[in-house]
Amino acid sequence: MKILNEVRVFAPATVANVAVGFDILGFAFHGPGDEVVLRRSTQAGLKITTITGTGDKKLPLEPERNTAGFAALGLLRHLGQEDLGLEMEIHKKMPFGSGLGSSAASAAAGVFAANTLLGSPLSKEELLPFAVAGEEIADGAYHADNVGPALLGGILFIRENKTLDVHKLPVPEELHVAVVYPHIEVLTKDARAVLSNQLELSQHIQQNGNLGALIIGLYENNYDLIGRALEDVIIEPQRAQLISGFADVKASAITQGALGASISGAGPSVFALCRGEATAKHVAQEMKSAFQKYGIMSDGYASPINTAGAIQM
Ligand code: HSE
Repeated sequence: MKILNEVRVFAPATVANVAVGFDILGFAFHGPGDEVVLRRSTQAGLKITTITGTGDKKLPLEPERNTAGFAALGLLRHLGQEDLGLEMEIHKKMPFGSGLGSSAASAAAGVFAANTLLGSPLSKEELLPFAVAGEEIADGAYHADNVGPALLGGILFIRENKTLDVHKLPVPEELHVAVVYPHIEVLTKDARAVLSNQLELSQHIQQNGNLGALIIGLYENNYDLIGRALEDVIIEPQRAQLISGFADVKASAITQGALGASISGAGPSVFALCRGEATAKHVAQEMKSAFQKYGIMSDGYASPINTAGAIQM
């Protein structure tokens, strides 16, 4: 094992659920993300020395309680390297509670940094269970719809989270995303708490139809089908109340040319899939303006799907 002295890695923001795949679909995009620096030190064990970018929120410095630290520790233990002297810096470059996969990006970056420093003994796919366990520290649920794409890039379909039966879907060349993050906070655990466990059979049928259609649309570069498929009849109607102006923001995306739009992950960010970069940029701007009418400032991003995931910088 050839151990490096220092690595700096980046893991990107992600959009989970993608309207019709609650907990089982997600993709990465080019926009904000988290950086982790990991370096050798003479003191045994992993220490988190610095966390920046958290504003007035404090994240735990104990590796066992920190998403990036816990993900890295899992790998170090797996490789029998838990006594290796290491210092970790975490530089958060995106807000908490944004629906952009902030804790997932930290977890993916943490384990990817540890693996890279150790000379990449495991493939990225093999790192996924450690990354998911890291994110679980933050939101208490074991699902890979953010952390999977943050680590592996692309659009991921997860047949089952328990066994991490994860599959990469094709990315149509012109597919772009507009994402707008309104400056309000929705915590994932609160957005999960509003969800009912009851489902009408008709909702199940419609959602399954849309999920299948979205996957076919991605395989066949069929943008119209992708657009028709982006209709969430189960989760979005229950969570829209948590995001002021959501209906108008979504309507503005669709009237301005988006294929479809919905809540990014647990919200409050809203995403719209678009054909082409120019449309995505325009739609992002229009969604920002729609939030502004509600007195809500926002950040907007327009990008292709990020197929790289976590990278060494
Ligand atoms: N699938 C998750 C949810 C993503 O919507 O609750 C946020 O962690």
